[in-house]
Amino acid sequence: MNRDFILQDEIDRQHEIALSLHSETAGKRACVITFGCQQNENDSERIAGALELCGYEITDDPDSAQMIIINTCAIREHAEIRALSEAGQFKGRKERDRSIKIGLCGCMAQQSHRRDQIYKSYPYVDFVFGTDMHHRLPEIVKNALNAKKRFSFITDAPHNEFGVISEGMPVRRENRYKAWVPVMYGCNNFCTYCVVPFARGHERSRRREDVVAEVRSLVELGYKDITLLGQNVNSYNGGCDFATLLDECASFDGEYRVRFMTSHPKDASSELIDVIARNKNVAKHFHLPVQSGSSRVLKLMNRRYTREQYLEKAREIKAKVPDIAVTTDIICGFPTETDEDFADTMSLVREVGFDMIYTFIYSPRVGTVAAKMEGQIPKSVSNERFKALSDMENDIAQSLNDRLVGKTLRVLSDGLNKNGIPCGRSTQNKIVTYDKEIPAGTFIDVKIESAGAYALSGKVI
Ligand code: SAH
Ligand code: SF4
Ligand code: F3S
Repeated sequence: MNRDFILQDEIDRQHEIALSLHSETAGKRACVITFGCQQNENDSERIAGALELCGYEITDDPDSAQMIIINTCAIREHAEIRALSEAGQFKGRKERDRSIKIGLCGCMAQQSHRRDQIYKSYPYVDFVFGTDMHHRLPEIVKNALNAKKRFSFITDAPHNEFGVISEGMPVRRENRYKAWVPVMYGCNNFCTYCVVPFARGHERSRRREDVVAEVRSLVELGYKDITLLGQNVNSYNGGCDFATLLDECASFDGEYRVRFMTSHPKDASSELIDVIARNKNVAKHFHLPVQSGSSRVLKLMNRRYTREQYLEKAREIKAKVPDIAVTTDIICGFPTETDEDFADTMSLVREVGFDMIYTFIYSPRVGTVAAKMEGQIPKSVSNERFKALSDMENDIAQSLNDRLVGKTLRVLSDGLNKNGIPCGRSTQNKIVTYDKEIPAGTFIDVKIESAGAYALSGKVI
């Protein structure tokens, strides 16, 4: 038995604890507040599932909840500040009503220096738990309801020793036609800027049969857009490689799409690209974070590919899948980044022609190699680079989208957007607005009449 997997006996024990709490939780509500990436969103769905199992009614409104859990992100300083300020919101309420329980979890909670800060400055946070404790939530809730003192459930083991996989706990999905399915957890890559390996532990894969069964049941339930999740899905090794897993997950009957997040350029394989090209149910979207266009900076980042290797991979993707959207992540202002390095990033972006870029300003993270590097870049310089890149990308995205005018795209309806306009997503994950309200979760054909940099607009056929 792989030591990563939680034994069924333990899962059964948690179910029993959850049931034993029903008399205490009857009529009470719980709220989960989420920051960060898709992994965290999915974790929150699992946390909400466990809270429901414990007898809580789940609400989006923290003010009506007796149990509040804040699921945090530590990727950049800004994310941490937002989570802490969210926690700060509950100070007054907690002072008025001591029976309310406030918990904090996720990537920030996993880091000991942040935990110390939370203990010191946020006395009204009752409990803290780490990123590999979700299966123990019933036990955590039981403690929270009975404990007189604050407590924490955290593994402080080193990266290569912490991290578990639990199957058989409930998931309370936020959406009835789009779903996240984790295929692997953690990361072993240690890019020098990144906190994730510290916050999420070592790489471990779910079993192939568990992933496939989850996807099959989602398709049977009518889910239309399923995203396979992992920090580096190409490292998947739960019984086959990732390309095979993706192909299998996208081979059930019916119209639906399978996406994946995120793929590391150093091991995005030709087989994976072939599966995207061949399998009609695999979305035509490849998110391939490049981080920098300078081989020198990539080396300092420990990305383990060069500018040329990345360009080669991008060319292969576009040649094999002509209608694909390629998107990326870029960090501006990594330590020692010169004007020349940044010019390399700009030219790589022009050469690839990304449909979208998520641009970030480098944020030093405690415990990472890059935070200790000499040559930290002043904020003003990073900001300028950020703006130059965003401006250029706007033009690139606009001209790529202009080419779609006159074409008919298959769109999965999201109902109405927040301005009341009918909208949905194409297979490339582009936002499409149109003239007629269509129930969310329905596929339609839309003839594109106009294009902006980040959205298309047309008529339903
Ligand atoms: N596993 C994914 C990335 C997850 S983090 C991958 O390897 O692609 C999402 C993005 O946040 C990264 O791609 C990177 O661009 C950005 N990021 C990570 N750490 C950062 C930091 N310290 N400062 C600024 N951006 C960062
Ligand atoms: Fe972070 Fe790199 Fe792992 Fe992505 S691959 S999570 S950027 S360490
Ligand atoms: Fe943030 Fe943790 Fe995701 S640091 S980006 S929530 S893996």
